[in-house]
Amino acid sequence: MPGQLFDNALNQPGMPFPLLKVLVHSRAMNFLRGKRILLGVSGGIAAYKSAELVRQLRVAGAFVRVVMTPAASEFITARTFQALSGERVWCDWSDDRTAMEHIELARWAETILVAPATADTLARLAQGRADDLLAAVCLASNAPLAVAPAMNQAMWRHAATQHNVLVMQQRGVSVLGPASGAQACGETGPGRMLEPVELVEHLSASFANGLLAGLKVVVSAGPTREPLDPVRFFSNRSSGKMGYAVARAAREAGALVDLVSGPVVLESPAGVDCVRVETAAEMHREVMARMADCDLYIGAAAVADYRPLSPAGDKIKKQEQTRSVELEPVPDILAAVAALEQRPLCVGFAAETGRLEEYAQKKRIQKGVEMIAANRVGKGLGFETDDNELLLVWDGGSCLLERDHKPILARRLIEQIAALYARLAKSKSGSKPVEHHAKHSA
Ligand code: C5P
Repeated sequence: MPGQLFDNALNQPGMPFPLLKVLVHSRAMNFLRGKRILLGVSGGIAAYKSAELVRQLRVAGAFVRVVMTPAASEFITARTFQALSGERVWCDWSDDRTAMEHIELARWAETILVAPATADTLARLAQGRADDLLAAVCLASNAPLAVAPAMNQAMWRHAATQHNVLVMQQRGVSVLGPASGAQACGETGPGRMLEPVELVEHLSASFANGLLAGLKVVVSAGPTREPLDPVRFFSNRSSGKMGYAVARAAREAGALVDLVSGPVVLESPAGVDCVRVETAAEMHREVMARMADCDLYIGAAAVADYRPLSPAGDKIKKQEQTRSVELEPVPDILAAVAALEQRPLCVGFAAETGRLEEYAQKKRIQKGVEMIAANRVGKGLGFETDDNELLLVWDGGSCLLERDHKPILARRLIEQIAALYARLAKSKSGSKPVEHHAKHSA
């Protein structure tokens, strides 16, 4: 059993500490890649551990911005965090208060962790104060807030602190720790900040949600290449970033995910089974081979619409004259999946330059799928970019996912798909609760 192996390994006497940390670290799935974490650091001796925390979050692939309280800079310098996070560090409002930094940071953060959270910081957060930048960011943000208390054991046990903690927990704040043990002040008891590796695991787990728990999801992503001869091909500008982000978000939502990917330079997301293909025909074959037990198909690939009718067996020689190539349409994979008798819920993508809703609804009906995610191409959006904007359309509804980074949009898309899945499953089963693995037929 893997867990057993870890426990045995961790119990080995004399095991070097860094190796032990790596093992503990690898125990959980990493859901932190591409996440935007705002780390608040307040003024306690445990602030030195926050430097290691930033490093581990970066290793896990998260973006980290650090906001320090004025007291924190008496324990650790902003430069340390700047070097480790690769980002500017905020210690206070800049002179120009109209800059609205607290609002910008509050919007940027997908989650906020205050570590260490001193007794004073806990009290101020519990009261909802906004008289330093960190407190103001916490107040202005809708992002989930977690705190990692660190203080003397008597301060932690004090009724005032316990009351503040309770108030925050009732408000939905996650209180991580504290651990118990020897303290910097020489006393022993509860009040030690959790170790960075434990905080990383908590944060990672906080991104896992059960929206698609137990469902089998197949995602297609990237372009296809249609050969003209052994060295040349027709393709398109798809980077695969959106499809990969969707596969990752589906995995975080608890689904078992197969990713059928055209040629891209991206790493396959952790926990996702990725099969690489080149042509539309190969993508068609690999997608269809996964349909037997599939609950949800998300066609994010930019499949070539045409392929050369007769690719040359040898490299075509350069000639002076113009040359024409006869093209034939490739199979429409999404439409083929939607036409299966036992079929999953189907979501397609559409790139449009205008009249998004009208064209997207037409495409949804024409392909016979439950949802189309339409994006406007041009104006720095769509292919090869890190940002996107999506208009989702389904039978009787639509919703705009405003411009944002693709990983964030992908998570919002998964929320909408999960909601649609639940609605359709419910309407199929009358008033019965949602059944996973329910098949949808058009
Ligand atoms: O028809 P159009 O290319 O605009 O439709 C886009 C949607 O259809 C995308 O979801 C894409 O993955 C899917 N598609 C497909 N097979 C094709 C062409 C498009 O699955 N041959």
